[in-house]
Amino acid sequence: IQHIGIFTSGGDAPGMNAALFAVVKTAETLGIKVSGIRRGFEGLIDDDLIPLQSQQLQKQMHLGGTILKTARSERFKSKLGQEKSVQTIKDNKLDALIAIGGDGTFRGMLSLSSISNIPFIGIPGTIDNDIAGTDYTLGFDSAVNTAIKCIDNIRDTAESHNRVFLVEVMGRDSGYISIYSGLSCGADSILIPESAQDFTYLLEKIKNYSSEDAFIVVVAEGDEVSVEEVSSKIRSVNTDIDLRIAKLGHIQRGGNPSAQDRMLGIRLGVLATKALFQGESNKMAGVRNNRPTLSAFESRVKEHIIDAELQALLTLFCK
Ligand code: F6P
Repeated sequence: IQHIGIFTSGGDAPGMNAALFAVVKTAETLGIKVSGIRRGFEGLIDDDLIPLQSQQLQKQMHLGGTILKTARSERFKSKLGQEKSVQTIKDNKLDALIAIGGDGTFRGMLSLSSISNIPFIGIPGTIDNDIAGTDYTLGFDSAVNTAIKCIDNIRDTAESHNRVFLVEVMGRDSGYISIYSGLSCGADSILIPESAQDFTYLLEKIKNYSSEDAFIVVVAEGDEVSVEEVSSKIRSVNTDIDLRIAKLGHIQRGGNPSAQDRMLGIRLGVLATKALFQGESNKMAGVRNNRPTLSAFESRVKEHIIDAELQALLTLFCK
């Protein structure tokens, strides 16, 4: 392998720049050139490549977002988009690709590999932590840390006014951000898409809420019941309630990556590059039981399984 192309795709996630740095640094020690493909699959279609050097990336690895920019490409779904991408690979003499992104990115890579035999490795980068084959995805830890700072702030005002607060967090169809941020902030209730019971617990609990204290509910954006619906249901079971809604939104995606995400980016970047060098292909670089691990490519999301230990914690703290 002499030339690797790398891109970030889908929603940006803190830690992506650390992974880029690690890939380029590792490649340089192996005598491999790396080109950055800008705006994900869009850049692959438009032949938008830039040379990458570790010296420069070393000074950018601490930044949130992605210095390569990103996109959710509609054009790549077409036959023409995919053919143009194959042409870009040929024109630039790319021998292998590394894609940093989530489930949509990996599905895109699988379709590309069905029409081009270019080897590729995926690095899971999404704040949602919903990818199979890794315990954590890049950006999850940073997003949770941002969310808990916000929820702590909300608690200050909620306690002062004895208010009920519904805080909506991101995560698409996954409840991981909701569980981790909710448990870390001592939330009274945590609503996740993976559980139907949690809403029943909430209504039971809030019936007896006496307005002499704050009551904090963390709601995953993908929950079956929207924050607005949760709010009107709560008001119907307890009329004596002063309630506010806060949607944290894209604040959770930005900001400098946590130490955990920088280290994860470094470990996965090194693993992905070495794997390509050793002739591996169509695998995902992840971390399992705190060890960097390559796994067979799984484009499916984490099956929305919240393991028994997390379930037990939710019941203990939120029932
Ligand atoms: O997948 C990451 C994520 O931030 C989800 O948590 C959220 O549902 C979605 O992306 C938001 O996407 P967009 O930035 O396109 O609005």
